[in-house]
Amino acid sequence: MAPRREERISLAAPVAPPTLRHHVTPILEVSKETPKIKAFVLSAPAIARTATPGQFMMVWIPGVDEIPMSIAAVEPDEGHVEFAAALVGEATRHLHKTKRGDLLGLRGPLGKGFELPISEGKPPPQSLLVVAGGCGAPPILFATDSALHGDWEVDVVLGATTESELLYRRRFNCLTHTLVLTTDDGTAGTQGTAVQGAEVLLKQRRAAGAEGYAACFACGPEPMLKGLVKLAKKYELPLQVSLERYMKCGVGICGHCIIDIKGSRVCTEGPVFPASQLYNTDFGKSTLDATGRRQRL
Ligand SMILES: Cc1cc2nc3c(=O)[nH]c(=O)nc-3n(C[C@H](O)[C@H](O)[C@H](O)COP(=O)(O)OP(=O)(O)OC[C@H]3O[C@@H](n4cnc5c(N)ncnc54)[C@H](O)[C@@H]3O)c2cc1C
Ligand code: FES
Repeated sequence: MAPRREERISLAAPVAPPTLRHHVTPILEVSKETPKIKAFVLSAPAIARTATPGQFMMVWIPGVDEIPMSIAAVEPDEGHVEFAAALVGEATRHLHKTKRGDLLGLRGPLGKGFELPISEGKPPPQSLLVVAGGCGAPPILFATDSALHGDWEVDVVLGATTESELLYRRRFNCLTHTLVLTTDDGTAGTQGTAVQGAEVLLKQRRAAGAEGYAACFACGPEPMLKGLVKLAKKYELPLQVSLERYMKCGVGICGHCIIDIKGSRVCTEGPVFPASQLYNTDFGKSTLDATGRRQRL
């Protein structure tokens, strides 16, 4: 006897992939890292086990908005993920008001992260230079930790406007011997920009006759990244930069984060791009706002 029609129909709702579905989870820890930046730790085992440095999550603040945040750290065994958010507008204002136990939704890990080069016949230790400016520090912290676990030597340049805004300073200090600090106002480290800090390290290395860095990873304000692209050209430094563009879907569907006529999307082909791929793009020139209007940078 043929099965009755209703017996053959699955009543289970179709399950969306984790990049489209929110993992709703309570906040485990909130810490004030700087006067403007708070860090949040949540339980998200699937993200913690698969995320690579430079990837991001879409963070849903119920009833408010969904915004992209870089992954700052993971604890794969405990299934914890951390991100750090600067207070800049409506969504981050609500985020900064949340406390332990409040629910957030996470989608991810999303995008393409940093890639350590594998050079044949040359085992680690190789040297990596990482440069973080302002709230660009989270993905750089994750990349530093991960490279050190892979036996890379990592030199860090951490820049901010002023001493109190040097995000994750203590955590970087625990990880690496070479931590160059720069502040715009000279309250800590060298007065100047993170790009100038990076040039000091590059000059020192050249003067000592040491081999150049095998790679450089950077995240921070776009003018800083633009300066680093110039510096990388001068010192023949293989540079990868993490970009920010206004994101809606975060998974390559809406096209809001496209940066060139080829249709390269920051959410899927990036957010990390080799500097060599940024010529003939909007990098350093313009960006789209929430309504799709082009804004000069
Ligand atoms: C891949 C990626 C990783 C990021 N990682 C971090 C991080 O680790 N820490 C951090 O503090 N910030 C990060 N940002 C920036 C962060 O998403 C914005 O600061 C946040 O969305 C601001 O929201 P708001 O409503 O508080 O501010 P608004 O007042 O709405 O906007 C303030 C600024 O934030 C930008 N912004 C707002 N909404 C979005 C959005 N949906 N997508 C992208 N930019 C937006 C706008 O360009 C605007 O200039 C990241 C952005 C991207 C694209
Ligand atoms: S945010 Fe929709 S395509 Fe990138």
